[in-house]
Amino acid sequence: MTVTAVKVQFNRHFKEINQSQKRYRVLKGSAGSGKSVNIAQDFIIKLSDERYKGANLLCVRKVNETNRNSTYAELTGAINKIYGARAEEFWEIRQSPLTLRSRVTGNEVIFRGVNDARDREKLKSITFAHGKLTWIWIEEATELQESDVDILDDRLRGELDNPNLYYQITFTFNPVSATHWIKRKYFDIVNPDILTHHSTYLQNRFIDKAYHRRMMLRKEQDPEGYEVYGLGNWGEIGGVILKNYKVMEFDTSFHMFDSKHYAQDFGFNHANAILEVGVKDGDFYVCDEIYVHEKDTSEIIEIANRRGLDKYLTMYCDSAEPDRIQMWNNAGYRAVAVEKEPGSVQAQIDYLKQRMIYIHPNCVNTIKEIQQWSWKKDKKTGLYLDEPVTVFDDAMAALRYSTEPLRKPELNWSSERPRGW
Ligand SMILES: Nc1ncnc2c1ncn2[C@@H]1O[C@H](COP(=O)(O)OP(=O)(O)O)[C@@H](O)[C@H]1O
Ligand SMILES: [Mg+2]
Repeated sequence: MTVTAVKVQFNRHFKEINQSQKRYRVLKGSAGSGKSVNIAQDFIIKLSDERYKGANLLCVRKVNETNRNSTYAELTGAINKIYGARAEEFWEIRQSPLTLRSRVTGNEVIFRGVNDARDREKLKSITFAHGKLTWIWIEEATELQESDVDILDDRLRGELDNPNLYYQITFTFNPVSATHWIKRKYFDIVNPDILTHHSTYLQNRFIDKAYHRRMMLRKEQDPEGYEVYGLGNWGEIGGVILKNYKVMEFDTSFHMFDSKHYAQDFGFNHANAILEVGVKDGDFYVCDEIYVHEKDTSEIIEIANRRGLDKYLTMYCDSAEPDRIQMWNNAGYRAVAVEKEPGSVQAQIDYLKQRMIYIHPNCVNTIKEIQQWSWKKDKKTGLYLDEPVTVFDDAMAALRYSTEPLRKPELNWSSERPRGW
């Protein structure tokens, strides 16, 4: 029962990484350089291979729940590409708890976080039906503390029965800060156990043209962000605007909140972002997102209909595009324009800074944006200005609009479920 990996293709620049059995494979790179897809494909092929019987993979993110939309999604994506309609014959894919098991080798994949003491304690009691923990993939590794990685590193010890097996930790990340411990620990030293790697979206032959255009825009408008997310160089994402947020799982049902509404920032080349925001005791809960590129309003409305957005909730929208607002209204949504006044951007940001912002792990694009949304820097003086950068800020614009009903109580808004809904 062998199926060859005919349907997956690889980017050549990861060849050495995929062949390496060094203890540490450390992949830094720009956004979109192909790191995550590559590592997922590499692991699925190896875990399916009889030669590596007894290998088991642990996938780690800082917040465990974010595994579902990242490592787990990439790995199941790779399984589906390789095996197509026969995926379930070869892999057991479980949702709760998230686990993958090769039916050929018995090798398993599990998922964990390192967000608190309980998470860390759980790392100590990991066992598998066959073999030991051999491989660890730390995705978005810059989110972790050095001590988290030390705990993980400690888990990879002892003799292995199968001579083909080896211990390995794989790191994937964008190099957000030149003072980050990962640079010191793995890049600033020469050590035979470490293989470091650098990649950019320019080397990824699968990336689309629109992505290139967005990156060029970023290069112009946000040179610091481009250095890190476009070129994958150690940089400094200074002047980050919002730090008062927490990614965590929570119940997104209507009754959990004092009120709920949507906020939308229109876009075509830029993303069109819609956030579903709950408010409880004055704090913001980003429950869900729709985040799409190069889609017409009618297509986005279709997506919203399919996703079952509630039509009785008010949707605060960018006032610059009344035609689009009209289309949403015609489709039965309660879309209203957010009036812009001088200083409103700063006022909205001030408002956001005074609350906690909880973000559901499903909102992957909101999470990505909030981590890097920063103040513009004056080219001459090097000082931060009182204006945010205007790229990769679409979910953030929607988040700003979502403050309107709270910032301006005179809007007299209500998110009560009308009779009959
Ligand atoms: N080997 C591959 N085969 C097909 N598509 C790929 C491959 N590698 C990358 N891609 C495409 O490029 C996009 C970006 O790759 P990804 O691995 O997510 O980048 P990174 O993790 O470096 O940010 C993916 O969403 C996918 O569309
Ligand atoms: Mg990635």
